[in-house]
Amino acid sequence: MITANVEKALNEQINKEMYSAYLYMSMSAQCGEMGLKGIAVWFMAQYHEEMFHAMKIYEYVARQGAKVRLGAIEQPQQDYSSVLEMYEKTLDHEKVVTKSINDLMDLAIEHKDHATQAFLTWYVTEQVEEEESATDILQRLKLMGDNTGGLYLLDKELGTRVVNAPVNFSQGLEAAAGA
Ligand code: FEO
Repeated sequence: MITANVEKALNEQINKEMYSAYLYMSMSAQCGEMGLKGIAVWFMAQYHEEMFHAMKIYEYVARQGAKVRLGAIEQPQQDYSSVLEMYEKTLDHEKVVTKSINDLMDLAIEHKDHATQAFLTWYVTEQVEEEESATDILQRLKLMGDNTGGLYLLDKELGTRVVNAPVNFSQGLEAAAGA
């Protein structure tokens, strides 16, 4: 059982995670157009992980007997001047998501909603990793400057990223995770 306010905020967070997926899908498309196939793989892996973030909340809301309400997903930026700009925007965006998760946690505490607090703990930890990985890549991009050899090597490295989340949600998350 969750309160109407928590239900509304969780549904808004589903939308934010879906927007995150859409944003990274857009960045992946542009990397592909630029010939940076490895970085395109990295952003598409990020897309899948964001879809998983959305689905975890979707399932939690449903399991609590609350109502899943899906809103319109905002159009993401279509064009970027460089990969550096993409990672700057990625880090900025992840900081916004971190704040949103923290606000949700504050709301759950305010409503004495222990189950939602326990559920959100996973997201608090996940956001540390999200900001850390974006920061790491951004720092490396800044260090390499206009060095195209460095970008080539980074592209090769980021292309090895594997999706660390289930991607088929049709039978529910437990089935998707092979549990
Ligand atoms: Fe779902 Fe990248 O935070």
